[in-house]
Formats: sequence, structure tokens, C-alpha cells
Amino acid sequence: MLMSAAAVLMLLQQAPAEGIDWDAEFGVEEKVRDPETGEFPVDPYTQDNANSGAAPYTSAQLVADFGGREGIRRIAIRTVELSEADPRIAGIFAAHDMVRLKRTLDEQFCYLLGAGCEYSGRDMRTSHAGLGATKADLNALVENLQAAMREEGVPFGAQNRLLAKLAPMSDKVVER
Ligand code: HEM
Repeated sequence: MLMSAAAVLMLLQQAPAEGIDWDAEFGVEEKVRDPETGEFPVDPYTQDNANSGAAPYTSAQLVADFGGREGIRRIAIRTVELSEADPRIAGIFAAHDMVRLKRTLDEQFCYLLGAGCEYSGRDMRTSHAGLGATKADLNALVENLQAAMREEGVPFGAQNRLLAKLAPMSDKVVER
């Protein structure tokens, strides 16, 4: 069957263009997890313990009350897990890197409790910018942290000492 020149031209025009990187055309950036850490890259920032938002305690008893280094790790990870599963705030966490958050939250708690860590994460204002967290969201997160500390058997007074370090940070994480 013979095609008219016009029909051939139409077919050519409709043919999908090959070799175009549409992600680049639309400005879509695909982030790839680091094969070693399992974390997504973040924009460069200056690492400093001051980014943790407070000065650390220096009490061996307090560290022991938290179950030592491993107890602190379990509490930080559990707090994130409870929050990811908490319908009140799960939506805020879903789109973010929970591998990194588990590591950095653990470092922050460990540093603040004086359990021998450096905090390598970002400051509280930078890391929560644009999340749109409310006071109610913060209360939900604190409840999850309290539940994680209770599960670990942290005495009430020791729980409150960690909360006392975190409470003044609320104006940096709550945006509305
Ligand atoms: C005083 C309270 C809080 C503390 C101490 C805290 C601590 C942290 C830390 C240490 C990081 C990691 C920083 C980094 O990646 O470099 C982080 C990130 C994050 N936090 Fe919080 N947080 C608090 C409140 C909240 C609240 C209320 C929400 C929402 C309900 C929230 C959601 C998130 C999310 C989604 C990220 C990851 C952001 C990203 O991937 O860029 N945080 N937080």
C-alpha cells in the first residue's frame, strides 16, 4: 500500500523522540541511597555538636537509667517507628529518609545524654524547615518518645531530663 507524503510526514511527527532525558527536561532529580549507609544524600552543611540544639548532661547515672548506649539506640529507633505508624503524624514522616532519622536522632539523644556520641546531623530549624509541623504533631511525637522510654524502663525523673533538653527546641520545629 502506498502512503501519501502527507501521511508519512504525520507518522514521523508522532513518532516518540528517542534519546531525550525527560527527567532532566522536567527537572526531576532521582536521589539514590548510599550503598553503604542506606541513606539519601542531603545538601551540604557544617557538622557541629551545637546542631543538636543543647548542651549535654554529664551523669553516668543518667546514661545507666537509659539502659546505656544500646538502650538509647533502641529508644531513638522505637520513637521513629512509633511515629511512622502513628496516623496523626505518619504522613509527615512517610516522604523522608527514616534510615537517616533513626541514626541522627539516636546520635542526638546519645550526645545530649552524655553517652559518648558526636552529633553529625543538621540543626533543628534547618532539618524541620518546610515540614509544616504543628504543636499537636509535636505532642504526638513526644508521646511516642515517652512510650519508647517507658518500654525501656527509664525512670520517670530521667525521662523528664531528656524532655527538658528537647522542649526549648519546639519553636524551631513547629511552623504553624
Ligand atoms: C523537639 C522535637 C524534635 C526533635 C529533637 C527532632 C529531632 C530531629 C533530628 C535530629 C532530625 C535529623 C536531622 C538531620 O537529618 O540532619 C530530624 C529530622 C526530621 N524530623 Fe524531627 N525532631 C523534633 C520534632 C519533630 C516533629 C514534631 C516532627 C513531625 C511530626 C518531626 C519530623 C521530622 C522529619 C520528617 C525529619 C526528616 C527531615 C528530612 O528528611 O529532611 N520532627 N528531627
